[in-house]
Amino acid sequence: MFQYRKITNDMYYIGANDRRISLFESAYPVPYGISYNSYFVDDKKTVVLDTVDKSVAKTYFENISALLKGRTLDYLIINHMEPDHSAMIDELISKYPQVKIVCNQKSKGLILQFCHACYEDQFLIVNEGDILNTGSHTFSFYFAPMVHWPEVMVTYDSLDKVLYSADAFGTFGALSGNLFADETDFFNKGIDEARRYYTNIVGKYGPQVSALLKKAESLDISMICALHGPIFRKDLNKIIEKYLKWATYTPEDKEVVIAYASIYGNTENAAQILANLLAEKGIRVNMYDTSVTHYSEILSQCFRCSHVILAAPTYNGGLFTSMEQLLSEIKAHNLSGRTFGFIENGSWGPLAAKIMKETVSNLKNSTILEPTVTVKSSLKEIQLESLADLANNIAGSI
Ligand SMILES: Cc1cc2nc3c(=O)[nH]c(=O)nc-3n(C[C@H](O)[C@H](O)[C@H](O)COP(=O)(O)O)c2cc1C
Ligand SMILES: [Fe+2]
Ligand SMILES: [Fe+2]
Repeated sequence: MFQYRKITNDMYYIGANDRRISLFESAYPVPYGISYNSYFVDDKKTVVLDTVDKSVAKTYFENISALLKGRTLDYLIINHMEPDHSAMIDELISKYPQVKIVCNQKSKGLILQFCHACYEDQFLIVNEGDILNTGSHTFSFYFAPMVHWPEVMVTYDSLDKVLYSADAFGTFGALSGNLFADETDFFNKGIDEARRYYTNIVGKYGPQVSALLKKAESLDISMICALHGPIFRKDLNKIIEKYLKWATYTPEDKEVVIAYASIYGNTENAAQILANLLAEKGIRVNMYDTSVTHYSEILSQCFRCSHVILAAPTYNGGLFTSMEQLLSEIKAHNLSGRTFGFIENGSWGPLAAKIMKETVSNLKNSTILEPTVTVKSSLKEIQLESLADLANNIAGSI
């Protein structure tokens, strides 16, 4: 049975939720599921904005069919070609073969790669700022390259003042009926998953996100409809402020993340003592075992906090694997402007700090605090002194 929802006078939510999925994009745990959003505009010409993931296809097509009431679908606007949004293009075309696909040239190339059902005169190619009138609605299109993929664009409807923002402003987590962020405790409870989504999915592309925010400034927006998570219609400045910070890699809080790996517990011992010292100085600390907490969560906390302490044993002449992965994610997502400190461990040839420092010193605007604490197997008095010095230097720079 259809489950579409009315958003404005003639615009409807036609997406759906997947709460069975364990790993989004085969990489990110989604303990609260995920929503695949899509929208229907019931104008003189009928319009669908993006399709959905194959996991929610049944609901999506039931929603469209119920809204069309036997009419034809005129336009499918494609903002993003990643298969969590484009998986149903072929099926949509098979059901509504006369539909015009409104997309940019780059998307057309990807559609031809991913899909099999479309034909040449099905495309209506748009450029930056182009306009599509569908009766009473006027849509305009703005390119947002790399705000997840190179072909991404966003669509603005000047009648409803809605920005269809593609993956920008998306959030992990299924929608529990409350479609709007203001119907939930979003800025207390939802923001952590929004940040984890942002940092992991688009965090790498801060300058491109900033460019999109700049374009959006010139539009009169009263609602942001993303492809995942809730719709924003109140306090838009609050979520935009978060995006401005995230896109510029500006820490939200003066706090410390301690991410440690430990096989036998000795590195953990040093990390915990550092945490205790910092706590005694009134500093807020967020501690994670990299082998236990998924890197996507730790990376997200590294975006939130100003200071990051990495602690790891040496492993086969390299770095313990879960720390290696975290570090490679930190690098891949261009985390910049953070202050780092290091604790290493090794029984015969400690190398972990050297490796961690090498990666971190290639990050933009990073500061490295001394001393680096080296543990040889288990903690001795001498390391307690170094830990105290490191704690003082963290406190001095926070
Ligand atoms: C598979 C394996 C490989 C290791 N490789 C190295 C190494 O290359 N160099 C070194 O100094 N220690 C190496 N170690 C030893 C650990 O780094 C060392 O015992 C350290 O104290 C462990 O810290 P933890 O108690 O926090 O786990 C290795 C340990 C394991 C299990
Ligand atoms: Fe995407
Ligand atoms: Fe997506």
